[in-house]
Amino acid sequence: MRVVETVSELKLIRNQISGNIGFVPTMGYLHEGHLELVRQAKAANDITIASIFVNPTQFGPKEDFEKYPRDAEGDLSLLKGVGTDYIFMPATIDIYPPGFNSWVDVEGVTGHLEGAARPGHFRGVATVVAKLFNIVRPSRAYFGQKDAQQCVVIKKMVKDLEMPLDIIIVPTVREPDGLAMSSRNVYLTAEMRRQAPVLHRSLKLAQKLWDSGEKDASTIRREMTELIHKQPLANIEYISIADADTLEELAILRTAILISMVVRFGHTRLLDNIILV
Ligand code: PAJ
Repeated sequence: MRVVETVSELKLIRNQISGNIGFVPTMGYLHEGHLELVRQAKAANDITIASIFVNPTQFGPKEDFEKYPRDAEGDLSLLKGVGTDYIFMPATIDIYPPGFNSWVDVEGVTGHLEGAARPGHFRGVATVVAKLFNIVRPSRAYFGQKDAQQCVVIKKMVKDLEMPLDIIIVPTVREPDGLAMSSRNVYLTAEMRRQAPVLHRSLKLAQKLWDSGEKDASTIRREMTELIHKQPLANIEYISIADADTLEELAILRTAILISMVVRFGHTRLLDNIILV
């Protein structure tokens, strides 16, 4: 495993690689979810490159960029454990040097959900991912279903701009009690952590209703809301029932549906989702 800290060094290394590259972009503070992306990259490619870069441009002014959890040493040992070939850890100034002025804006699908709740977030994500793709030039890049809208945005960018790589989506990795793994779970108090699996339980309830023939979005949303409100620390920010490709909200369900949600515990926003087909 080799750690690469500058864009120029990574470009030199890239020029010497002739096989397929699997690329896993992350913001670090890694957990099993990230590692599963790396394992899949490793299984399907000759060389695996992971990046760790807490991207300032995807955080809003009142968001947690400064206190986003960081643990470079722990991350490196986890990445070594799963056999990552190269770890790219650029400095902010290397990715955004003075005078940086070009942005990737994926319109339409960013107008809903997280894009609506976090203005500018996906512009930051799409820009940094496009830049990382240009530096790494991977054959395949791996993203987690946990961030469903991010997957839709990146796939759209790659398609619209004819970027020459495949996007592979990896199912959400969960704790044994169903909570989706997330770097932000460390913000939860013990009591919040105990209540947090309700997100997954509510998605399973939605799946059950769908399987039994329920097509009415408001019924599904109401049942999910009732279940979540049984946990006193849970505050629902949104429950979206939308077309999985366009992310348009639907009143009557038809396949394929993305049910996605944000539930707040204190200041911590927990995301989860399920696709119903
Ligand atoms: P980050 O939140 O670090 O996540 C990196 C990748 O890991 C994303 O593709 C995310 O969806 C995936 N991931 C996170 N939790 C997961 C889980 N429980 N199961 C499966 N995959 C999971 O997402 C970002 O960073 C950034 O926006 C980034 C794409 C790196 C651009 O800055």
